Amino acid sequence: MTSFSQRIARAADNKKSRIVLALDPPSNKPDLQDFAIKTINAVEQHICAIKMNFHLILPLSAAEISQINKTAHSCGLQSIADIKLNDIENTNQVAVDHLVEMGFDAVIANPFIGKGGLAALVQSAHKVDAGVIALVYMSHPGASEGYGLEEKGGRPLYNTFLGRAAEAGADGIVVGATQLEILKQVAKQGIPVYSPGVGAQGGDLENAIKSGANYLIIGRAIVEAKEPVRATKEMQSRILAVGK
Ligand code: XMP
Repeated sequence: MTSFSQRIARAADNKKSRIVLALDPPSNKPDLQDFAIKTINAVEQHICAIKMNFHLILPLSAAEISQINKTAHSCGLQSIADIKLNDIENTNQVAVDHLVEMGFDAVIANPFIGKGGLAALVQSAHKVDAGVIALVYMSHPGASEGYGLEEKGGRPLYNTFLGRAAEAGADGIVVGATQLEILKQVAKQGIPVYSPGVGAQGGDLENAIKSGANYLIIGRAIVEAKEPVRATKEMQSRILAVGK
């Protein structure tokens, strides 16, 4: 089995898209499984992966989640669980095993758990061919209150998180598209960068790609668009036009 990083890179090549669709249901969608499956089928030609958050995962059964992931896989897409995993080694491992059983390919985790905890998580995920994407700097305005804190000596916490992700062999890192200077800085590390924050949160698609984002995580600009397929296709073309 190929690694998650190889699988998503291949999906991105096949689909000519580096968009990870954040399947965040608008509030008027009571049938969540139906929303998820219909949205995937509608835009699958223009994305390389889907991402599901707690607020989609929690109300669904394991069978319903598996069905959504099966749909994604049958379209040649990868699936990421955005649960920002942040616990002790043994519970993290059980959580990863459940996620993989439900068909997820990767999990987003918080390096706040520490160097050893992140390394153990990556090892246990890799044993079951899953990937780990580590938060380095979130996209929302309050991110500076955590990821931007300075350690003794003035080193920003996100730099330490970047170092932990690299040392642990994480498959990717998350840096907000709203943080262009940090994006430029972390892109030099060579770990694939997943960047949320384009569109609804004010991040600029072209600037994010030029600054080093490899994949763009996009939710509302697609799921709340009047014409989601057209919106996705347009963003796919704009990313390709940057040519990076
Ligand atoms: P929008 O609607 O703003 O949705 O395009 C963005 C999606 O990405 C998630 N998100 C993040 N996930 N680290 C993450 O792991 C982040 O810094 C971050 N910022 C936004 C958000 O939950 C939504 O699904």
